[in-house]
Amino acid sequence: MRTDFRHEIPTDAKVFIAGHRGMVGSAIWRRFEAEGYHNLVGRRSSDLDLRDRDATFDFFAQQKPDYLIDAAAKVGGIYGNDAAPADFLSDNLRMQVNLLDAAKEFGLTRALFLGSSCIYPTTAPLPISEDSFMTGPVEQTNFGYAIAKATGVFQVQALRQQYGCSFISAMPCNLYGFGDNFTIPGGHAFPMLMRRLHEAVQAGDDDFLIYGTGTTLREYLHADDVADASLFLLRRYDDGAPINIGAGSEIEINKLVAMMADVIGFEGSFSHDLSKPDGVKSKIMDSGRIRSLGWEPKIGLSDGIRLVYDWFLANQDSYRR
Ligand SMILES: NC(=O)c1ccc[n+]([C@@H]2O[C@H](COP(=O)([O-])OP(=O)(O)OC[C@H]3O[C@@H](n4cnc5c(N)ncnc54)[C@H](OP(=O)(O)O)[C@@H]3O)[C@@H](O)[C@H]2O)c1
Repeated sequence: MRTDFRHEIPTDAKVFIAGHRGMVGSAIWRRFEAEGYHNLVGRRSSDLDLRDRDATFDFFAQQKPDYLIDAAAKVGGIYGNDAAPADFLSDNLRMQVNLLDAAKEFGLTRALFLGSSCIYPTTAPLPISEDSFMTGPVEQTNFGYAIAKATGVFQVQALRQQYGCSFISAMPCNLYGFGDNFTIPGGHAFPMLMRRLHEAVQAGDDDFLIYGTGTTLREYLHADDVADASLFLLRRYDDGAPINIGAGSEIEINKLVAMMADVIGFEGSFSHDLSKPDGVKSKIMDSGRIRSLGWEPKIGLSDGIRLVYDWFLANQDSYRR
């Protein structure tokens, strides 16, 4: 990995943020705006379905973006993924292939493809380094999503090798943030726990049920930190290998629930539904590569929980559910 790579993105560059209304895409939009970028472009999926190749290419032909950040994806939790592997595979493959092909075809200066830590094998040694990519089988419950994301890494590598495109791919850990998807069931653990705890307080419940033993460990990063890392990587990273974006530490789900309960004001007891699966015990990533370039997260988990709960309270009418 080159550590001396530097790339300046002009503030008038046209940056297409695919998925700009999503949790991560909207955070990236805010981060770029804060940095003075004033020529950002985004489209809702209802206006531009990125699975549609012709529509995607027409959009690039009209808009002529200089940079692409691909934060558009069909995203879901373990149950949502397990129920629809074909949709997660097909939708994500089509979106990213169309976007990256168009980025190559229209000669974009740089593109960033956002994958996920689930591209790594369940057998990878911990903490999971980028070198574990393709060394074993991925988690079965979300194999459709994981294989689509892994293919995105290969497409970035192939476009770099064949056409010299300065495209990169980055793999964030589990994320949370403003505009998260609070759907129950089918969503991610963090927003589901937050919403369920909030509703438990409202209902006056004296017990809260945690699915599984709650002893699994997960690495959580605020989406605003991923947005910061995305801008950082476009400026500082130019390699075909995926690069991890992690928090650097994990938290036990029981502890996460306790922290949320403190913020939300749930004072009851906790019990466990042991019929529910736990998933892998730990999947912490090794984020040494991005750290060695000089990036680190800025939002700690306790602050992050409070910030997101404040957002959740302020957006009771409109949050995704
Ligand atoms: N959330 C996590 O924990 C996590 C962890 C690791 C990596 N990531 C990655 O981060 C990226 C963003 O995830 P997120 O959590 O921000 O998801 P999200 O909140 O669900 O946002 C996904 C975005 O993708 C857009 N999209 C979906 N289908 C589309 C289609 N057919 N055409 C056009 N746009 C479409 C949606 O647009 P509309 O809103 O307009 O429909 C939405 O803005 C994804 O690549 C994901 O794999 C997420």
